[in-house]
Amino acid sequence: MAQVDLENIYKSFQKGTGQDSKSLVLSAELTQASSLKSQSSAAVLRSINLTVQDGEFMVLVGPSGCGKSTLLRLIAGLEELTAGTIRVGDRVVNDLPPKERDIAMVFQNYALYPHMTVYDNLAFGLRRTTFANREESETSLPSWGQNLLVGATRKLPKTLRYQSDRERSVDQRVRTVAQMLQIDLLLERLPKQLSGGQKQRVALGRAMARNPQVFLMDEPLSNLDAKLRAETRAQIVKLQRQLKTTTIYVTHDQTEAMTMGDRIAVMNAGQIQQLATPLELYHYPANRFVAEFIGSPPMNFLPVQVKSPLGLSHPQFRLTLPDEWASTLHSYDGDTVLLGIRPEHLRISDAAPGHLPVQVELVEALGNETFLAVSLAGEMLQARVEPDRPMRLGEELWLAIAPEKIHLFNFETGLVIRPQ
Ligand SMILES: Nc1ncnc2c1ncn2[C@@H]1O[C@H](COP(=O)(O)OP(=O)(O)OP(=O)(O)O)[C@@H](O)[C@H]1O
Ligand SMILES: [Mg+2]
Repeated sequence: MAQVDLENIYKSFQKGTGQDSKSLVLSAELTQASSLKSQSSAAVLRSINLTVQDGEFMVLVGPSGCGKSTLLRLIAGLEELTAGTIRVGDRVVNDLPPKERDIAMVFQNYALYPHMTVYDNLAFGLRRTTFANREESETSLPSWGQNLLVGATRKLPKTLRYQSDRERSVDQRVRTVAQMLQIDLLLERLPKQLSGGQKQRVALGRAMARNPQVFLMDEPLSNLDAKLRAETRAQIVKLQRQLKTTTIYVTHDQTEAMTMGDRIAVMNAGQIQQLATPLELYHYPANRFVAEFIGSPPMNFLPVQVKSPLGLSHPQFRLTLPDEWASTLHSYDGDTVLLGIRPEHLRISDAAPGHLPVQVELVEALGNETFLAVSLAGEMLQARVEPDRPMRLGEELWLAIAPEKIHLFNFETGLVIRPQ
């Protein structure tokens, strides 16, 4: 088990070739931050700083193309860094080949060896690593003697074959892991005889069997249907808690991120936007991007004008904020800011100047809840409302905003504005 430290990571790919650029690697090492900046337009990852604690379940979440897989591949050693330092425990692993990093990775498209049984898929990594040697017993035959016996009994039925100590400890490990993942009845099957979910568990099992210091998982659930995904999600979390192996898990699905991570790093365009626990991200997003990405349906945004001491004014409504906002709003008096309000914090209400006059454009009644898309003089908003009230398309409604639930963001930069 180990902590993983990422220090000021940069990654660029050479244009056109898809290869690492040696010259970039060199120049990044030799030049100052200013010239690094000038290259960063092509950079896929920029200035990534992240410490994953020993035993922590860290989720990297962000939209497609933001650099999640690239970051995992850098940690695994499958890509070369442009600049920065990666530590696993107290070892700098920058220049170590993948197999010396003691890291196991489960890929986005989990690749099982198609011609090998589940058993051999699980055992494969173990046989290649030194794991089995570590556990070799001291009372056994020397290895040349064992090899001789293995050779001499190879043609016999399986139960009569001689098993070397190494093979026996591989066997033990494979069976323990298979049991944990409930694939112990599938060990003799080939991958093509498995369902998607079973294959997925074999891929996980193969990573687990090696008992690495760090697990890296790249969207391991993306090929599963919704029900199986929820089940396997819970299973992975449970296993990780049991094994306490430091885990970095990549997904673009915010529900997965929220339900699995001890902490979440939200990424966009090659940078970490915010690093926090799931509920901190929900309640205190650092900027508009995080506010919109975390939460489903996403937060609504409306430009409003600040009217000190506590007013926000929009052509269609006025809002008075709680007292805690006074000194913050004072310094923004007259400015336009972005008001953020989540769909679950809008409520159907009566006509009042503080409320929003809207027209229903779309109704999604799910039974346990109803989502509305409404227009506020042309601006579209989403609301989550009680399921029991019948709704008609085109109906005119008043929505109330809970003032203690609002978020404000700088109109230009998107950075959060908080009460002081
Ligand atoms: N070998 C490569 N050569 C050039 N560009 C690459 C290479 N690998 C990735 N990229 C680019 O780097 C960016 C990040 O890719 P990456 O695969 O890390 O995204 P991701 O966040 O994992 O996305 P997804 O959610 O779609 O898997 C993308 O713009 C991609 O086109
Ligand atoms: Mg990816």
